[in-house]
Amino acid sequence: MKRILSGIQPTGSLNIGTYLGSVKNFVKLQSQMPDYEFFIFIADLHAITVYKDKQELRGKIRELAALYVACGLDPTRVNLFIQSEVPAHSQMAYLLQCNSYIGELERMTQYKDKSRKQETGVTVGLFTYPTLMAADILLYDPEFVPVGKDQKQHLELARDIAIRVNNKYNDIFTVPKPLIAEIGAKINSLNDPTAKMSKSDNNEKSRINLLDPENTIKKKIRSAVTDSLGTVKYNPEERPGVSNLMTIYHVITNISFEDIEKKYEGMGYKEFKEDLGEIVYQELKPIQERFNDLINSKELDTILDNGRERANQVAFKKVMKFNDRIGLGRKRK
Ligand code: AMP
Ligand code: TRP
Repeated sequence: MKRILSGIQPTGSLNIGTYLGSVKNFVKLQSQMPDYEFFIFIADLHAITVYKDKQELRGKIRELAALYVACGLDPTRVNLFIQSEVPAHSQMAYLLQCNSYIGELERMTQYKDKSRKQETGVTVGLFTYPTLMAADILLYDPEFVPVGKDQKQHLELARDIAIRVNNKYNDIFTVPKPLIAEIGAKINSLNDPTAKMSKSDNNEKSRINLLDPENTIKKKIRSAVTDSLGTVKYNPEERPGVSNLMTIYHVITNISFEDIEKKYEGMGYKEFKEDLGEIVYQELKPIQERFNDLINSKELDTILDNGRERANQVAFKKVMKFNDRIGLGRKRK
């Protein structure tokens, strides 16, 4: 069976940017592509490239797993698992490090950004992060990897590594293709609409978190930065604020930009923002209810146990095969 795989980091606060740009896309894919087996994992090993408090990390891992299921990820369709519970990821990462070059890792723009911002020493893990990501992917031979635009460069590196290893070791990996959601692929910050809405922005007002209560959601939208023109018109270059809000509106309701413009013709931002607040709240309400049922449940553990078991099956086999192709250990019988 062909496969689709993706991962998400348990850091920051899952917000409508990640939801509309990524999680919702998985939920759609699981029904649109019935011939594929899905693997989605919580990338906790990726989270520790920068020091994390233990309790917080644990909490985030579980929260993220519950949120994924609450957002509609179907555990009967998708193997949902935690990366660190499948040891082959770390093993494969090492093997791939021995097939990657310092120069190509130094070119990664995310590494350059993050290492520049890092105040106390840059860990080796932050540098080798793309080889771990390549391991995550290549272990499962997926045909497609759904990611946001910011991960495209890492995915291209994974492809380069796969092709290189295939040439050296006789076609061991499937070369994965990125699957990038087109519309709604980028939701921007509410207080700086030229920057991406980010899980890690220190300003809480920049994003709507999936677990924000109703009044917080509505308040944040009311105070979102727009401009002084006061008309609902889509023009991302000149009017990024209102265009970003329209993108959120459009992605949730499926109403075209043109129809949104018509609907609010002759009105100011107030009415548009009130409606959008309600639309976002109605979208998040069932997710929050399901999340509350799941977060402390045995059901969630069963889902993660099942996911781990299946992932281990596939990943262990692959890493053993690669060890053997390289000539490590003793010849397999
Ligand atoms: P992150 O862990 O924040 O890098 O995001 C996980 C996934 O969600 C990646 O594939 C991102 O590209 C996507 N994503 C994150 N933030 C946004 C956003 N504001 N708009 C659209 N997609 C996003
Ligand atoms: N690096 C990705 C991010 O920050 C998460 C991730 C880790 C991932 N491993 C992956 C995504 C493998 C796709 C495939 O968003």
